[in-house]
Amino acid sequence: TGAMYLLICLGIFWFFPLTLALEEDSPLDCVPRKSVNPHLFHEEGVFNYSTMLLREDLDLLVLGAREAVYALDLKDISKKHASVKWEVTEKQKTECQNKGKDPELDCKNYIRILHKMDDDRMYVCGTNAFDPECDYMSYSNGKLTLENKAQDGKGKCPFDPEQRYASIMDGNLYSATSMNFLGSEPVLMRSSPVSIRTEFKSSWLNEPSFVSMAQMPESENNEAGDDDKVYLFFSEKAVECDCFNKIVVSRVARVCKGDLGGQRTLQKKWTSFLKARLDCPVLEAQLPYIIQDTYLWCDPQQHWKNCIFYAIFTPQSDTSDLSAVCAYRVSDISRVFAEGKYKTPIHVETSFVKWVMYSGDVPFPRPGACINNEARNAGITQTLDLPDKTLQFVKDSPLMDPAIQPIGEKPLLVRRRVTFTRIAVDRMQAADGEKYHVMFIGTAEGTMLKAVNYDGEMFIVEEMELFQQQEPVKILKFSNVTRELYAGSNSGAAQIPLANCARSSTCMDCVLARDPYCGWDKVVGKCVALLDSQRELIQSVKDGNASLCPKAGKKYVHHTIQPSNLASTSWEWDNRLLIPSDRLQWLKDGLLILNASHSDGGLYRCLSVEHSKAGKYTNTVAEYQLKIGTGSGRDGQIVFPQAQKDGPSVTGLQVVVALLVISLVALLVWNFYKGHLPLPWKCGKKNSRKSPEYEEEMGVNCSERPTPAEDKLLSPAPDSSSSNNNHRGGEAGEENDPPDVNQHSLQYIDDESEI
Ligand SMILES: *[C@@H]1O[C@H](CO)[C@@H](O)[C@H](O)[C@H]1NC(C)=O
Ligand SMILES: *[C@@H]1O[C@H](CO)[C@@H](O)[C@H](O)[C@H]1NC(C)=O
Ligand SMILES: *[C@@H]1O[C@H](CO)[C@@H](O)[C@H](O)[C@H]1NC(C)=O
Ligand SMILES: *[C@@H]1O[C@H](CO)[C@@H](O)[C@H](O)[C@H]1NC(C)=O
Repeated sequence: TGAMYLLICLGIFWFFPLTLALEEDSPLDCVPRKSVNPHLFHEEGVFNYSTMLLREDLDLLVLGAREAVYALDLKDISKKHASVKWEVTEKQKTECQNKGKDPELDCKNYIRILHKMDDDRMYVCGTNAFDPECDYMSYSNGKLTLENKAQDGKGKCPFDPEQRYASIMDGNLYSATSMNFLGSEPVLMRSSPVSIRTEFKSSWLNEPSFVSMAQMPESENNEAGDDDKVYLFFSEKAVECDCFNKIVVSRVARVCKGDLGGQRTLQKKWTSFLKARLDCPVLEAQLPYIIQDTYLWCDPQQHWKNCIFYAIFTPQSDTSDLSAVCAYRVSDISRVFAEGKYKTPIHVETSFVKWVMYSGDVPFPRPGACINNEARNAGITQTLDLPDKTLQFVKDSPLMDPAIQPIGEKPLLVRRRVTFTRIAVDRMQAADGEKYHVMFIGTAEGTMLKAVNYDGEMFIVEEMELFQQQEPVKILKFSNVTRELYAGSNSGAAQIPLANCARSSTCMDCVLARDPYCGWDKVVGKCVALLDSQRELIQSVKDGNASLCPKAGKKYVHHTIQPSNLASTSWEWDNRLLIPSDRLQWLKDGLLILNASHSDGGLYRCLSVEHSKAGKYTNTVAEYQLKIGTGSGRDGQIVFPQAQKDGPSVTGLQVVVALLVISLVALLVWNFYKGHLPLPWKCGKKNSRKSPEYEEEMGVNCSERPTPAEDKLLSPAPDSSSSNNNHRGGEAGEENDPPDVNQHSLQYIDDESEI
């Protein structure tokens, strides 16, 4: 009777493992789902966890951070087996500071290189206060030990911790970084007894940003007697473009492993350094996209030619907020180097240089080619024997034509409003017998996307947050032994399983997620991992056909909160679609009716609309029969209806989830009559006139937040015919989960993690 303001919250904590077909409404937008990481690693006061070495032979993840290296349990990286510090000395710090660098940021030792050596030791390099150094490290008897055999790290490891670099080890270290303090001498170098590197020429490397490196065993069963190769991906300012402003382009370069340099020309330099432009044609892009990372995927049963480089790209101007994935066949890359034309500079007028395609005679042996049978037959058995003519040609014209095109001549995935930083790829044979490449993409926003291209349809299976803070993913590794992913950021490292099937609690969830790793097991009524199940599972990765699911109707399974906004939501009131207004507000997880009166009573229905290839699924997520009471007394009791049980959706498809919550609190009443009216509830005290959920929520909120003027969201009983006593505080976990007593006010929802 005394209600001046009546505040009603119809809150429902819903949420599906929502899926988004990119060809549908908002193809490039995405809102991340949240996810808990079971295994995180972070050590107090230590930052920049950005170097990783998988030691599957030792069951270790070796993690390089700033001034420290850790040996973590590969199966659970939160378990630290050993660590070793590698700090700069005071003297080094002072020298670094005297050269104008920041003592607390630049003048530290950032671990940048971690490789396994043939003798099982490890090779480790750090920036070492702008004076890079390398050392050997071993792991034995549960201890990591640095041998303190300081080696000059110039050309192996960057001076500047902010600079990008790349390296691989195959007995010799191949590194791509800057050789000097200023960062102005970029090289691709092999550290062997006789070190071989690139020329300091802008036609070779022009202010490059190195991205990644990989080796390819191209000598295997090679009829032409070709050599093994090392590929380097990077971006640089284009020399060949006669545009006013220098634009940046993406490149792949390669060298032959057997290269020893030339005799006179190109002495101790690569004679086989060739590079080509990499195209990733994103539709709306005016400027070329810039490569950021690659992942080499090879089928162990197939020829190296079928290996694929997956590469991620971001725009070079601020005018676009897209990121893309393009994939390149090794055979396509290799063909451009083996058969392509050369681009060559010609001097036009006085000082102007124009790059054109060279159409004259090419010297023999072919410039930049590895020593092969043809050369051997001509008496040239090593690069030292190569004629000057060939060497001079490649020295002047290491750039090939045409640019390398991705598979399908378009990106596999394009996403708006995220910045891709790292990628890893796994192949999974789905229930339909087909093998799909699943891309795991780390972003600058600290999330990881799991995406599949289903016959040209780009599809995001999942997007999850990896770290406590939203910070860029700096490294991403995949172990095919543990079948887990390992990600690193400035503040820590995370271990992520390839799939988290259990988060889908209904068949429809499970099927609509279109996750090739997961299928619905009818027998146990759970979404399970394909690899863990012997039974036939329901899965429809290509179509997302949820009609394959058995007609449910028996029982709703209640989700815990999975904040995710991928499906669209709408509300109906007595079968009329509601439109948001000052009085009716769409909350992220509920409907807020302000100044509610008797006329607001009626049937409220929350609808979720999801698209999949097989159709549009409209689900009634929850229904509420709302009756506005007077706020006190038996007659004014609020009705907390239960979610409807039988098939309410338009398509006749049963839905998932239901969960609800309701609350009705005449808080402001109390506020208004402050001091006059005692609280109708007391902490922990039961009020027999209210429904049990209501009381419990009150109890919880009362102890959590004593300010009574705040709105409270209450949980009604999820649809369970059993006792409601288990259900409290908006929690709607699986019925047998004892729900936490927590406070589901709106501000907490963001922090809530699923399952
Ligand atoms: C290292 O981590 C700190 C703390 O997050 C960050 O401010 C800094 O930029 C990082 N430095 C590098 C080189 O990544
Ligand atoms: C993992 O990958 C490596 C190299 O790509 C391969 O040699 C090895 O056989 C793979 N192991 C498994 C268990 O698939
Ligand atoms: C609610 O009612 C009060 C008092 O009648 C009024 O001042 C206020 O503007 C109303 N609020 C809304 C959102 O309608
Ligand atoms: C979905 O599956 C049902 C049941 O097997 C089938 O009848 C229907 O044709 C399928 N729809 C699509 C679009 O594949």
